[in-house]
Amino acid sequence: MRIAHISDIHLHLDSHNTMVEEFYVLLKKVLQKNPDHIAITGDISDNAQNKDLEICRLILDDLGLLKPHKTSVVIGNHDIYGGVFHAEEIFNFPEKCRSRDFDSGISNFNFHFRELFTECLYVSENNSYPYAKLINDTLIIGLNSNIPYSQIQNPFASNGLINALQREEMLQILQDFSRYSKHIIILVHHHFNRIKSGSSRILQTVWNNIEKQTMKLRKKKVLFNIFNEFKVDLVLHGHLHEQGNYVRKGIKFLNSGGSLKNNDHLLNFNIIDLTKNGIAIEQHSIPFDKSKFHSDKHITEYRRMAEQVDARIAV
Ligand SMILES: [Fe+2]
Repeated sequence: MRIAHISDIHLHLDSHNTMVEEFYVLLKKVLQKNPDHIAITGDISDNAQNKDLEICRLILDDLGLLKPHKTSVVIGNHDIYGGVFHAEEIFNFPEKCRSRDFDSGISNFNFHFRELFTECLYVSENNSYPYAKLINDTLIIGLNSNIPYSQIQNPFASNGLINALQREEMLQILQDFSRYSKHIIILVHHHFNRIKSGSSRILQTVWNNIEKQTMKLRKKKVLFNIFNEFKVDLVLHGHLHEQGNYVRKGIKFLNSGGSLKNNDHLLNFNIIDLTKNGIAIEQHSIPFDKSKFHSDKHITEYRRMAEQVDARIAV
């Protein structure tokens, strides 16, 4: 069983950047590795806009990946609340978050990838998380680690928690289905490792540091206990835009963070091979040379279609 893992694509058509083209190239590179399944662990959109989720959907469909046995997605905080793009927006961000409805944000995200939530072993009635799929002999469980905006508890909309209801449902899934699988993989947006913050002078960098300090996943201990009890093989996540793997409390974690949005302008993805002998992980980073890439006609067409869908949903 081979899984490809990407995360934090941060598509943003309004920025007129080459992220869509990069995403297309990234997926082509991923497909060259012949994965059985692709996991995308959140922040597909940069600013929670329908056009960005829709263009991801169109590209997945174009490559034959908009199928539940081919691809799984979980939601990231940017898919609900977006982010800050200019220093002056820092002051408007709380208002922007207050004006967004958390539950509708989740169902909107899920709607764009609706096919991927079908043919599951289990899909929660509570906005589809957790869900569980059995792909070959691997049990894949998708979680929503986002929490509603709150001035005190979640002032930058970037903190996380797997709430009690999701934990209960995840336990039930593990009790019911773990015996039928050889491996268990968890997909979640938020990270479990500690992060370092850099020094800063300008406002945007101050924001980045504040955000880093307010990106915490709460109540990790109870999750470590559940993952250990059921011998979870690997937790795939993003959120922090750093590619890497680490072990905490005996559990293996793998970050594909910043598959597109990273400082080095690299296309990052992980390839995970699950065999009876254990897990092998390859981390790939491929430079994207803008000057050599010319946008395909059909990508231009997808941009147009995504804008149309956005306009239609907005009406
Ligand atoms: Fe994130």
